[in-house]
Amino acid sequence: MENALDGLRTVTAVRYVTPLRSGGSVPGVVEADDLGMYVVKFTGSAQGRKALVAEIIVGELARHLGLRVPELVLVNFDPSVAAEEPHQEVQDLLHASAGLNLGMDYLPGAADFTPDAPGVDPVEAARILWLDAFTVNVDRTVHSSNLMTWPTSGHQQPRLWLIDHGASLVFHHRWESAADAVGKAYDFRSHALGSPGLDMAAADAELAHRVTPQLLRRVVAAVPDAWLTDEPGFGTPDDVRNAYVTHLATRARVSARWLPGGMS
Ligand SMILES: Nc1ncnc2c1ncn2[C@@H]1O[C@H](COP(=O)(O)OP(=O)(O)OP(=O)(O)O)[C@@H](O)[C@H]1O
Ligand SMILES: [Mg+2]
Repeated sequence: MENALDGLRTVTAVRYVTPLRSGGSVPGVVEADDLGMYVVKFTGSAQGRKALVAEIIVGELARHLGLRVPELVLVNFDPSVAAEEPHQEVQDLLHASAGLNLGMDYLPGAADFTPDAPGVDPVEAARILWLDAFTVNVDRTVHSSNLMTWPTSGHQQPRLWLIDHGASLVFHHRWESAADAVGKAYDFRSHALGSPGLDMAAADAELAHRVTPQLLRRVVAAVPDAWLTDEPGFGTPDDVRNAYVTHLATRARVSARWLPGGMS
């Protein structure tokens, strides 16, 4: 898992199966030419392409830190594969999304995690909370966990899979003030896994030093140029990539400033 990334695989959608209306961005389940099924986040959604950038950067970081994230792929999407989809608002979304979109391996039989689910490993919970605090993910709450449980043979308890990182990296919506926010504390009170017993200091000691500029460069390299062009205040897509690397490398170094105080 650790070295899985060297650019994401690209697949082509051959069938639009169904919209997922529980998701605010109306992702779609899509079958691709590799016979895989993917949950596709569309560039034409109201959340926009920055949500997809955050999905890649945070999803791949999480994977490299040893957390479970379904494989991410780039999906070529031609709206004609969804000609049978009857809903006009879905058709509008799909027609606004021709070209490259983001797919996540579909986990058949997985269930949305709810905070009352038994058997969460506190060490894993602390790692996930650390990732969310580091990447300022405001969308892993008790009401919307963006965690899935998936039965795995050999494990009595279903294991946690991380999905939907589109609402993280909030600093990239205001690059002009991003540097000032680099040590911003994370509000963990309504986090899906928040609990006073978590050993955040141990998670920090384990993870912060692993977020190296080298790892960050590999992760941001996976973001397609097309999703980084025309960013106000920047020249080339690589200028934007460098800004993510600088910001996140700095934030990892100053973790003492944003770690949940009462929990460390
Ligand atoms: N890889 C997956 N495998 C199986 N089901 C999934 C997967 N990804 C998402 N889902 C299902 O689809 C729902 C919506 O997905 P997701 O949260 O990623 O969409 P979203 O549009 O970003 O949602 P929102 O912004 O409303 O949280 C999830 O709660 C889950 O039930
Ligand atoms: Mg979600």
